Amino acid sequence: MHPDLSVHIDPDCCTGCALCVANCPSDALVLQEGRAVAVASCMACGHCAALCPTGAVTVTAAHNTPLTFATFASPAEWLPYGQSDLGSLVQLMRSRRSCRSYTEKPIDRALLADLVKIGTTAPSGTNSQRWTFTILPDRASVVVLGKGVADFFRRLNRLANTPLLRPLLRLCGKPALDRYYRRHYRTTAKALREWDEAGRDRLFHGATAAICIGSRPGASCPTEDALLATQNILLATHAMGLGSCLIGFAVEAMRRDARIAARLGIPKEETIHSVIALGWPAVRYQRLTGRQPIEPRWITAVGKTDQMP
Ligand SMILES: Cc1cc2nc3c(=O)[nH]c(=O)nc-3n(C[C@H](O)[C@H](O)[C@H](O)COP(=O)(O)O)c2cc1C
Repeated sequence: MHPDLSVHIDPDCCTGCALCVANCPSDALVLQEGRAVAVASCMACGHCAALCPTGAVTVTAAHNTPLTFATFASPAEWLPYGQSDLGSLVQLMRSRRSCRSYTEKPIDRALLADLVKIGTTAPSGTNSQRWTFTILPDRASVVVLGKGVADFFRRLNRLANTPLLRPLLRLCGKPALDRYYRRHYRTTAKALREWDEAGRDRLFHGATAAICIGSRPGASCPTEDALLATQNILLATHAMGLGSCLIGFAVEAMRRDARIAARLGIPKEETIHSVIALGWPAVRYQRLTGRQPIEPRWITAVGKTDQMP
């Protein structure tokens, strides 16, 4: 096998059906003398291996290691189109809520490790999988991140409260600090006071663990990749019995102050796209709630329609 190629096809098993050739998104496979052969490097998406009726295709382990989970069983067979329970899936999606009240019970590390693996089942642009997962497995490590974020907002609030600075920046066409002041200054100041005086955690809501999802350089769609992995994790937490909450304030602070990620040991070339607070929920909901009604826009080949087709 050529070292640059991630796909190997066993010529003794290949029947030449060409399913892999026809479905390779990279056009990296051809039929030669009635057998499929890899002739170019590819995204290692694994379609060829997933399709092959005789199991003749291998994608190198570096690109395609089977997922195994320590804390739950999951059938290792492909589920055919239309054969999962859509009702249950949607119930899970609707039941996940942002949890802002946790017990002090720690989360088993095996659960956190499985959550990360579940995150990696998401699609990624050009299958780059250049996402990173930083696990803060206990309350103490969440507090380290929390303090870094709180310090960032403390400095930002001081800046926003500096006389004349906001109007001056606004005049120079930089309204961001003034906008922050009007929208967030007071609630942030109150949260910081509560953190300092009463130890109340308005940022992580007392979470006993967290996962920061980021990207390494070189991904074609780093933000999308990380957020798709994030949503998989959010849904899985609910199924595990865990509560979760995205913490956008932490993402903002980590983007603007590199020292916060550095203190956690996150390499400086990584960008953080989401931070998920996790814990065993101390709250139990009684019912589902709704969403704002949405009117989708229907566009047909002949123009906009204003009625459902
Ligand atoms: C990008 C993003 C950032 C968020 N940041 C925070 C946050 O910093 N703190 C928080 O308590 N909730 C945060 N949330 C949770 C939202 O408030 C929550 O998703 C929304 O109110 C809908 O409620 P639900 O998640 O229970 O369905 C964030 C959600 C998203 C999508």
